[in-house]
Amino acid sequence: MKDLFIVANWKAHKTREEALTWLVEVKNSYHETDSQNANKTVVVCPPYPLIPIVEDFIIKNASPLHVGSQDVSVFETGAYTGEVPATTLEKFVKFCIIGHSERRQHFSEGFEIFSEKVANALGANILPVFCVQNEDTQIPNGVTVVAYEPIAAIGTGNPETPEDAEQIAKSIKEKNPEVKYVLYGGSVTDQNVGSFVNLPNINGVLIGGGSLEASEFIKILQAC
Ligand code: PGA
Repeated sequence: MKDLFIVANWKAHKTREEALTWLVEVKNSYHETDSQNANKTVVVCPPYPLIPIVEDFIIKNASPLHVGSQDVSVFETGAYTGEVPATTLEKFVKFCIIGHSERRQHFSEGFEIFSEKVANALGANILPVFCVQNEDTQIPNGVTVVAYEPIAAIGTGNPETPEDAEQIAKSIKEKNPEVKYVLYGGSVTDQNVGSFVNLPNINGVLIGGGSLEASEFIKILQAC
């Protein structure tokens, strides 16, 4: 069985209570000790203030999930009001989404900023999950995990075809020898996830809308 990364990106959703209810439901249904789950790394990426709450739940309940952040500051520690630097996140997360197309679209971020963010994350022992929109998106040095997320597939209910996703994933690995894992993201559901994770060059999924309801996320985990 190949390694699979299953990353839930909650974006700007969920209250503290909703997060805790979700965690309890997922914990009751997903067990790392089940032999079919041995190859899976499941990462939940909540909004910043919920990160310590999710982390605390995971530790206290020996939940087989990991917590990640949806972003990291381009700055190091200092006078940067509103920013969360990698050195703060380091104590809480092992993973960090960087380069999401929503950061490009709504916050005008691009390759230079993402490169700094990747360097900051790696310097704090946080593994970047770097989002690319096509096979030619520039990937910063040091990135080993990429999420291929075509913009037309994000939040639209129109996923890429598995054949095209496999072709792009293969090409990303060929063009970027440092990249070991390529995840697919964009309108992933319990119905289509199997057709992506079974492909030779796809090593998991990044899930937005499909990760918000615990019942749907559990079905996605079961389908993997
Ligand atoms: P989606 O979002 O699953 O809702 O399409 C994926 C993402 O933006 O990471």
